Parts: sequence; structure tokens; C-alpha cells
Amino acid sequence: MICSFFTLRKIQIQMKSKLKKPVAVVGYSGHSYVIIDILLNAGKIVTAYCDSEEKDKNPYNLSYLGKENEVLERLKIFDYFIGVGHNGIRRKIQTQLAEHLGKPINAIHPSAVISASAEINHGIMISANATINPLVKLGQGVICNTSCSIDHECQIEDFVHIAPGAVLCGNVKIGAGTFVGANAVIKQGITIGKNVTIGAGTVVIRDIPDNMMVVGNPQRILHKEQLRKLVA
Ligand SMILES: CC(C)(COP(=O)(O)OP(=O)(O)OC[C@H]1O[C@@H](n2cnc3c(N)ncnc32)[C@H](O)[C@@H]1OP(=O)(O)O)[C@@H](O)C(=O)NCCC(=O)NCCS
Repeated sequence: MICSFFTLRKIQIQMKSKLKKPVAVVGYSGHSYVIIDILLNAGKIVTAYCDSEEKDKNPYNLSYLGKENEVLERLKIFDYFIGVGHNGIRRKIQTQLAEHLGKPINAIHPSAVISASAEINHGIMISANATINPLVKLGQGVICNTSCSIDHECQIEDFVHIAPGAVLCGNVKIGAGTFVGANAVIKQGITIGKNVTIGAGTVVIRDIPDNMMVVGNPQRILHKEQLRKLVA
């Protein structure tokens, strides 16, 4: 029997999708909707979710598995991804699950531009139109949200969230657990500590120590106490 190129390609795609593990997302709300969309655009099959309770809103018709730490056996047949935007909670869940299930997958939108020399870890979300330039290093569980731009040689530690539209000029270093707000701009060569919160639209022109919250242009420091309520 002679198969056309298109028939062969169709068979190849069908065989490939049969071999794929389905994906379960942990957390099912606004942030994870974006992740599910990225995974679907990247050709993954997302079929289930875990959360503290079954959600009334189920826009992707996913099956509810239960609370993640109570369904570890069921989760073994899935690839998984933590769909939680909060850095501290994402870190906690990812660390617990990785002990039992191994590393989570990455969620990378096909429109993201990622340099071949960038080093990316696991459990990373890279959204639509994000740019990751040469020699960037991304730790585990990092979120590079929609249209953010991370320039050459930036080093981003574990469980950092770079919100939509944020711009990191070259050689910026960001400590673990830090949140960079939407449309913030960080000047080249700046070092930012761990668990820092940078407000939306902030322009960062000086280094920031650990556990600070900064806002404005140029940056000004808000109280440390305000940070605790966000990262507790
Ligand atoms: C910085 C931030 C976390 C502070 O939140 P908060 O603790 O609830 O702070 P408040 O709203 O009580 O504001 C405290 C003060 O900071 C100012 N402020 C808050 N956010 C600011 C911002 N982004 N830029 C400039 N000033 C800001 C407020 O005007 C207020 O000033 P005042 O004391 O002189 O009146 C929050 O405003 C923010 O910017 N979040 C980021 C949002 C974002 O990027 N989301 C993307 C999600 S993917």
C-alpha cells in the first residue's frame, strides 16, 4: 500500500499523541488558565486538576483529582505543573510533589523567544511573547509572564515571578521568591535580594536588599511588614 506524505504525517501525529502523558495542573483559577492555554498551544494534553476543593468554574472541562498531597498515586500517570502564581505557595507545593513524582514539566508558549544559550530549569512558565535573551539563567519554578523581556546574562533564582510586560535589562540578578510587578523596569547590572516585592510600573535604578517592597519611579521603599502579609 502506498501512503501519501499527508497520511503518513497524520499517522505520525496520532502515534505521538498516544505516547504523550496527559498533564494535570495543580491549582485551577485565573493564573492556571493561562498555563493551561500555554500547554495546549504547545501541543500538550491537559485533562485533570488538583485543588483544595472541586471548582464550580471549569472552563477547560478538566477532571477533578482531589487535593494534590492526597492523590499522589493517581498523579503518577500524569505530567504535572503547578498553576499557582504566589511564589511561596508554588515553592511549597512544587518541593513536596517533586519528592514523590519527580520534576514538573515546563510550560513554554510557542511564541516565546528563547536564546539557545539560555539555561532553564524545570517547572518554569514562559508565556506568550516573552523574550529570554542569551546566557540568561532561570531557576526552578520561575514565571516569565506575558511579554516580559529578560535580557542578556540575567540570573533569576528559584520561584521568582516576572509579571507581564516587565523589562529586565542585561546582567540583572534576582534572588529567590522575588515578585517583579507588571511593566516594572530594572536597569542593567542591578542586584535584587530574595523575597522582594517590586510594584507594578516601578523603575528600579538601585540594588534592593532581601525582604523589601518597593514602588514608584524612581523606586522608594515601603514597609517590610507589608511584604510579610504577601509572602507568608
Ligand atoms: C506594590 C503592591 C504589591 C502594594 O500592594 P499593597 O501592599 O496592597 O499596597 P497599597 O495599595 O496599600 O499601597 C501602599 C502605598 O503604596 C503605593 N503604591 C502601591 N502600589 C504602587 C505602585 N505599583 N506604584 C506606585 N505606588 C504604589 C500606594 O499609592 C500607597 O501609597 P500611600 O501610602 O502614599 O497612599 C501592589 O500595589 C502592586 O503594585 N502589585 C503588583 C500588581 C501586578 O503587577 N500584578 C501582576 C500580576 S501577574
